[in-house]
Amino acid sequence: MKVYRNVRSLAKKVSEIKRLNDTVGLVPTMGFLHEGHISLIRKARKDMDHVIVSIFVNPTQFGPGEDFKKYPRDLKRDLDICRKEGADIVFVPKAKDIYPDGYSTYISVRGITEKLCGASRPGHFRGVATVVAKLFNITAPDIAYFGQKDAQQAIIIKKMAEDLNMRVKVKVMPVVREKNGLAMSSRNVYLSRRERIQAQSIYRALRLAKELFHGGEKDSGIIINKMKRVIGKQAETKIDYIKVVGIKNLEDVKKISRGSLVAIAAWVGKTRLIDNVILN
Ligand code: PAJ
Repeated sequence: MKVYRNVRSLAKKVSEIKRLNDTVGLVPTMGFLHEGHISLIRKARKDMDHVIVSIFVNPTQFGPGEDFKKYPRDLKRDLDICRKEGADIVFVPKAKDIYPDGYSTYISVRGITEKLCGASRPGHFRGVATVVAKLFNITAPDIAYFGQKDAQQAIIIKKMAEDLNMRVKVKVMPVVREKNGLAMSSRNVYLSRRERIQAQSIYRALRLAKELFHGGEKDSGIIINKMKRVIGKQAETKIDYIKVVGIKNLEDVKKISRGSLVAIAAWVGKTRLIDNVILN
């Protein structure tokens, strides 16, 4: 496994790989890797000749007052995990290399970036789309792997790739959860013991939505209200949004049909968590 710290040297390596006609899989991450990230690395390892994992806490996707500075970082541990999982290349760029002085190009995927998390985190998805487009250009992946945990992000990246005729195929892998149902997230380290227990109500509410839907309930308003009650019982937990939306356009759905997305964002203490399920 080789670690690349600047764009130029990695781009050179990628050109060499491409000359061999080998396939490249990219797993973009912000590090502090957990089983969710690992599931993506494993899938890439299974499918592709070369696996590139990027680790970059991208400043442009954090709003003022968000957790950029305190976002958890542990590069040594991350590199051990990448090595163990058989990654070939780990890309750990410096912010100055990705956004040099005078940097001025941003990608805005209109419409779907303003809904759900976009409403409470303005500018977030502009930062995500921009850095992911740059990572695609630097690493020229045949397939890039994303997690369903960040459902809106995956939809936006797919749309960007399609709209801009990018050659990459975007694959989305299922949410990896702890035994208690809590979706794995680097931000889970922020949670106290008490908050961790309260956070489990997020998935409980999503499971309830599934049960109600399979039991014949198709009215999203009724389902959302029942979900609110599950999470509302937790003292330190505050709902940002609970929505049932179309899986492509993220528009609110009143009468639920198969393939609708139920998405939640909630504050547990000072930590904002997101999770979702698809109703099938
Ligand atoms: P990060 O939060 O580190 O997540 C990297 C990838 O891992 C994303 O595609 C995310 O959806 C996936 N992932 C995280 N938790 C998961 C889980 N529990 N199950 C399955 N997949 C999971 O998402 C980002 O970084 C950034 O926005 C990034 C795309 C790297 C751009 O900066």
